[in-house]
Amino acid sequence: LYFFMILRPPSSTPLISSAASDVYKRQLSKLALVTGITGQDGSYLAEFLLYKGYQVHGLIRRSSSFNTSRIEHLYKDPHEKNVNLFLHYEDMTTLDSVYNLLDKIKPDEIYNLGAQSHVQVSFDMPTFTSNVNALGNLRILEALKSRSSNVKFYQASSSEMYGSSPAPQNEETQFRPMSPYAVSKLHAYWTTVNYRESYSLFASNGILFNHESPRRGRTFVTRKITSAIANIKAGVIDKVYLGNLESKRDWGYAPEYVEVMWQILQQNAPDDFVIGTGESRSVKEFVEFAFGYAGLDWSKHVAQDPKYFRPNEVNELCADSSKSQKKLNWAPKIRFEEIVKIMVDADLKSLGLKPIGEGREIIEANFGEWHL
Ligand code: NAP
Ligand code: GDD
Repeated sequence: LYFFMILRPPSSTPLISSAASDVYKRQLSKLALVTGITGQDGSYLAEFLLYKGYQVHGLIRRSSSFNTSRIEHLYKDPHEKNVNLFLHYEDMTTLDSVYNLLDKIKPDEIYNLGAQSHVQVSFDMPTFTSNVNALGNLRILEALKSRSSNVKFYQASSSEMYGSSPAPQNEETQFRPMSPYAVSKLHAYWTTVNYRESYSLFASNGILFNHESPRRGRTFVTRKITSAIANIKAGVIDKVYLGNLESKRDWGYAPEYVEVMWQILQQNAPDDFVIGTGESRSVKEFVEFAFGYAGLDWSKHVAQDPKYFRPNEVNELCADSSKSQKKLNWAPKIRFEEIVKIMVDADLKSLGLKPIGEGREIIEANFGEWHL
C-alpha cells in the first residue's frame, strides 16, 4: 500500500475542484506554486520550501510513465493529515488551468522552473523549446497581470543567455545567445523585466550558471560522466561517448542554488541576480577529476562521438556574482571538486557499489537541516 501511495500519480480533479479549496486553508506561513517541480531544481526547491513551512503546489505534466521519482519522498496522499505538497496536472505549452489555479490556491510566490532545459535538444526541437520556455513564462505573467497580483514571481533564467560574450559575465554583460534554448530563455528574461516595469509586478530573474547534483538529468554532461563511472565500475559498460571536451562551465551545487532562488523573492524589491561560483572548468577537467577520484584511467574509457557536438557552442561561462554577494550576502560553499565527489559517490551508491566516501562528508560538513 505504501509503495502504491508514494508512486500514485496525483489526481487533478480533487485538487482543482471548488470543494478542494478547503484543503488549502492557510494554516501555513506561505504558499508557493512551482513549475518544473519534478526536475532537479524543482525537487530540491520543494524540499527546501516544505522545510521552511510553505504549502507547496507543483505542476506536473502527464506522462505514460512515472516522472515523479525526484519528489516521491515528499509526496503524501492528499487524503492524509498535514499534507503540504499538492500536485496539479498542467503543461507549460498550454497552461490551461493557470487562471483557475491562481484563483483557487492564491500563491504568495511562483517559481517558474518548468522548461525544455537541454541545450542540444533545443537545436532539434526549437519551436517546442520556445513554446515551453518563452511562451510558458508569458502565459504565467499574463495571468498575473490580469489578476493585478501581489504574487512574487521568480524566473529561472540562464547563463546560457550570455552565449559568446566573453567571461566573466555579470548582470551588465551583453547577451549573445547561441542556441534556440538561449533565445527562448532570453524571451522569458525580457518578458519578466518588461512585466515588472510595465505592470509593477514583483518579478525577478535569477541568472543561474550551471548547477549539478546527484539529481541532475543523466543526459547533462556531469551526470553522464559520473553515472558512466559507476557503470564502468559495475562492469555494465566499458566506454562513455562525449562531445566537446574543451568548453568551460561554472559548475555549482544545485541545493545551494535553490536556497538563493527563495532569497531572491524575499528581497524588498524585484531585481535580477547572477548566481555562480566564479570558477570555470573544462569538460575535460571534469572527466579527469571524476575518473581519477574513482581510481580509473579516463583515457581508457572516454571516447568522442560527433553526434554530441552542437551546431554552435558556448565556449566559456564564468560568473561574476559580486552583486549577489553584496545584496544577497550570497557565496557558494561547495566547489568544483566537492561537487564531483558528491556526484560520483551518489552514483556508485545507487548501483550498490561502495562510495569512495568523501561526498557524504562534504554534505554533512556544509549542510544540515533540510539537505542531509
Ligand atoms: P530539469 O531537471 O530539466 O527540469 C525541468 C522541469 O520542467 C521538469 O520538471 C520537467 O518535467 C518540466 N517540464 C519540461 N517541459 C514541460 C512542459 N511542457 N510542461 C510542464 N513541465 C515541463 O531542469 P533543472 O536543471 O531542474 O532546471 C530548472 C530550471 O532552471 C529550468 O528552467 C532550466 O532551464 C533553468 N536553469 C537550469 C540550470 C542548471 O544548470 N540546472 C541553469 C540555469 C537555468 P518532466 O520531469 O516531466 O520532464
Ligand atoms: N549534454 C552533453 N552531453 N554535453 C556534452 C557532452 C555530452 O555528451 N559532451 C560534451 N558536452 C559539453 C557541451 O557541449 C557543453 O559545452 C557542456 O558539455 C555542458 O553541457 P550540458 O551539461 O548539456 O549543459 P549546458 O551548459 O549546455 O546547459 C546547462 O546549463 C545551462 C546554464 O548555463 C543546462 O542545465 C541548461 O538548462 C542551463 O540553462
